[in-house]
Amino acid sequence: MAFYSEKVMEHFQNPRNVGEIKDADGIGTVGNPVCGDLMTFYIKVKDNKLEDVKFKTFGCGAAIAVSSMVSEMAKGKTIEEALKITNASVAQELGGLPPNKMHCSNLGADALHKAIEDYLNKKK
Ligand code: FES
Repeated sequence: MAFYSEKVMEHFQNPRNVGEIKDADGIGTVGNPVCGDLMTFYIKVKDNKLEDVKFKTFGCGAAIAVSSMVSEMAKGKTIEEALKITNASVAQELGGLPPNKMHCSNLGADALHKAIEDYLNKKK
């Protein structure tokens, strides 16, 4: 386990914002066909800001740590700011991920962006 940073371990053991938002304004799910892991993000938007962000992740420890970090990074941000959260910035915030776990960070940012897209589409 030594190849995970302390931050990854900490978020894996105490993930923030786990759950579901019943009346979410946007929902985004992505899966990785190779490992079979699945991540869903729920967002609540008010005055163009992500007032609440929650997630459900069925996946590896890194995927859970990534979701937790993405939710923290996105909460309180404007739509535009949240769209700038990238896979790389998430991995960086976590103090890095082992190379074979980088795809887990892709799921996080992608699922968040999908939830935002869903919100924007519904608004049209
Ligand atoms: S092993 Fe696939 S998301 Fe982590």
